[in-house]
Amino acid sequence: MTEVAPFPDELRDWAAGLREQFPIITANPGSAYLDSAATAQKPRAVLDAATRYLTGENANAGRGTYTWANRTTARIDQARDRVRGFLADPDPARSGVDFVSGTTEGLRAVALDWLPGWLRDGDEIIVPYADHSANLVPWLDAVAVLARQGVRVTVHALPYDAAHDYDYARLATLITSRTRFIAATHVHHVYGGDMNVHRMRAAAGPDVVICLDAAQGAGHLPLSVTELDVDFVVFSGHKAMALPGTGVVWSRNRRGPRFAPGGWSGTPNTAGIVSLVAALDWLDAAGTDRIARWTVALAARLTDGLRGLDPYEMLGCQTSLAADSPVQQRHGIVTLRHRDIGSNDLGFILAGEGLMVRSDDHCQSPQGERTTSVRVSLHVYNTVDEVDRLLAVLTGLSSY
Ligand code: ALA
Repeated sequence: MTEVAPFPDELRDWAAGLREQFPIITANPGSAYLDSAATAQKPRAVLDAATRYLTGENANAGRGTYTWANRTTARIDQARDRVRGFLADPDPARSGVDFVSGTTEGLRAVALDWLPGWLRDGDEIIVPYADHSANLVPWLDAVAVLARQGVRVTVHALPYDAAHDYDYARLATLITSRTRFIAATHVHHVYGGDMNVHRMRAAAGPDVVICLDAAQGAGHLPLSVTELDVDFVVFSGHKAMALPGTGVVWSRNRRGPRFAPGGWSGTPNTAGIVSLVAALDWLDAAGTDRIARWTVALAARLTDGLRGLDPYEMLGCQTSLAADSPVQQRHGIVTLRHRDIGSNDLGFILAGEGLMVRSDDHCQSPQGERTTSVRVSLHVYNTVDEVDRLLAVLTGLSSY
């Protein structure tokens, strides 16, 4: 059953004011950027922070003793604290924050630099076979590395329910005394659903390490490691409005060895990290709770418009705008197919109308969709008019 609350009209002026802060958006009024799950646009404050740094005191970190170098080193330390604050870290003295190029690299670092030190012969892990392949392949690679060393690890598939949420009741039945690790996703990159990871600790028990791919959640909705009680959070700064090439591995360091990524001793992405701090400041000032209300409402408008439009198939979860609803909440991602128009062709047609979407298999893992689709992904700079424009074009193609 779908529950739809009224559109949050009180947020329209607020969102319009934020939209004005995105130079690439205001410079292209004829276009609608609907691909924020691939990478987010950057507000002026983020661009200015990076420019100020690069034109003011650009230097390498942790090496020189002159002022620019010292200040860059200090900025990176402060950026770690900024990330801890953004994630509502309850124990910042113990946790780690490591900067990587994005979620893919971060998950791989946890898989190859940390997981082998945590697993013993006969252990079991649970991983998601219908999420982004970046949150599956590294875990399987780690298991293969261990197998070559004679350490056998059993891999179970994280179960899903019919709405593509995790099936927490079935998950609980998979947990044994040898279960040591679960990889999960915060918001699904194809179905758009909040995967309700706040339910995972209860299902997994106190000793299992949980690693969260928050690529589609960070910057879109509140993300609290106190609430979620996970051990790792990995996200891409560039999807949270920072410059490309920025990403984060937050590690709680309460269960198992301390996370100490190997092979990371080169020059850090200093300007990217500076931009990440500005992005987190911007997001917190805007309020991730309000950003979530806005993008959930836009996604609901789109799904309402598409529902019943014959040639379209919408993938993914049900939608609810009610915060306390038991229905899985769809965040700003709506993925669809046209019965007669291939997804790449549909992507080209939409591009011709100035509507920028992603159209391919979205790097989904083997238990995911078997054919390609068109993904519309929204952020706070998107408008009701843009959603209506997209709906009008899709409706025009419905009798194709
Ligand atoms: N992982 C990004 C996406 O889902 C690129 O589009």
